[in-house]
Amino acid sequence: MHKAVVVLPTYNEAGNIARVVEEIFSLQPKIKTWELMVLVVDDFSPDNTAGIVKKLQSKYPALYLIQGKKEGLGKAYVRGFTYAISKLKADVLFEMDADLQHPPGLIPKFLEQIDRGADFVIGARYIKGGAIPKNWGLHRKAFSILANLIVRLGFMTLRIHDWTNGYRCIRTSFIKQILTQLDPYSGYLFQIALLDKALKNNVVIKEIPMKFRDRKKGVSKIQSLEFILSIFFYILGNSSFIKYVAVGLFGFVVDFGFAYLFIYLFNINKVASNSLSAEIAIIFNFLLNNFWSFKHKQISGGVGQYLKKFALFNLVSSGSIVIQGVGMWLLLSSLGDSVWTIVNFQISSWIVYKVLIISLVVIPYSYFMYNKIIWKN
Ligand code: GDD
Ligand code: MN
Repeated sequence: MHKAVVVLPTYNEAGNIARVVEEIFSLQPKIKTWELMVLVVDDFSPDNTAGIVKKLQSKYPALYLIQGKKEGLGKAYVRGFTYAISKLKADVLFEMDADLQHPPGLIPKFLEQIDRGADFVIGARYIKGGAIPKNWGLHRKAFSILANLIVRLGFMTLRIHDWTNGYRCIRTSFIKQILTQLDPYSGYLFQIALLDKALKNNVVIKEIPMKFRDRKKGVSKIQSLEFILSIFFYILGNSSFIKYVAVGLFGFVVDFGFAYLFIYLFNINKVASNSLSAEIAIIFNFLLNNFWSFKHKQISGGVGQYLKKFALFNLVSSGSIVIQGVGMWLLLSSLGDSVWTIVNFQISSWIVYKVLIISLVVIPYSYFMYNKIIWKN
């Protein structure tokens, strides 16, 4: 039988731990092909959560406990995963809050998805059938929704709806590959980093709906502001999309810089100068995207492959030029060519059109093409 280890990090969950453990084990008869085990990762909770677990162990032989220094949620999970893989020989791991906010009753649904081939199953609140507690205050709801929206847009990965919820089922074959990379994410940011690694490793991800329950006993340990800030910095450092936009802006500077140089320093005519500077910017963009933005999907297969991809990259770039030409023509002929006065500020309409075309069409188009054609998985 395959082994599924439910990892429950606990810090002061004395009021909840017995019930959650009982609920999990009560599901075993329903699950035929998986052996359920529970691993509590407690950080010497002052409320003696561990004492309760030790008592329960005589009733449940598949209940395990490890204890360690309190270093945050991420560290607790890494310790738990390591133990579950090396000592308990887990095939899949569950992440779950020990406070009953994540209904254990969904465990069979998660395993069903694993049986169907998923590597990483997410309990999602922001899809049809999922929910956050109705009685949460506006501030709390807004915080949760906002945090998820920032991550979804920051990574431009709209197919994932819940990045932060910590109810998941994951194959250990994947966890083993990236476990050491998770070390820096000690707190709640761990959840986002883990999912980001899953996406970059191209594993099969599936979301199932879940209703997040309200906490009945004990208190949440999350620090909202600190969490949002850490998410923000994580995205800046790890999002291919943000890096791609930065490379694009840099390309713009390179293009202008070289055009200026050729025209004023080398007295080359303006048409030739601009063609040359554009190609130089394309080369810069290609290299920076390959070795930075899409580093995890770097081109492999030698010089031949690089040349082929570079040719394709030029083709995609020509596409952007066509889009800009057609877009500008459409907007000028439909909305007119004039100078607009906004408060005391005058602006030519074509500048507004250009900004709109680049941000709404060219950026998404190129990003899509790069992912689908040049740096595909
Ligand atoms: N061992 C250990 N050490 N456990 C911890 C620590 C720690 O430092 N901090 C929190 N926990 C445990 C809690 O006891 C609980 O079982 C679980 O981790 C989640 O903590 P909560 O305090 O209940 O967090 P929440 O419900 O507000 O957090 C929600 O958002 C998080 C971040 O996105 C949940 O969805 C979490 O699952 C999610 O990780
Ligand atoms: Mn919780």
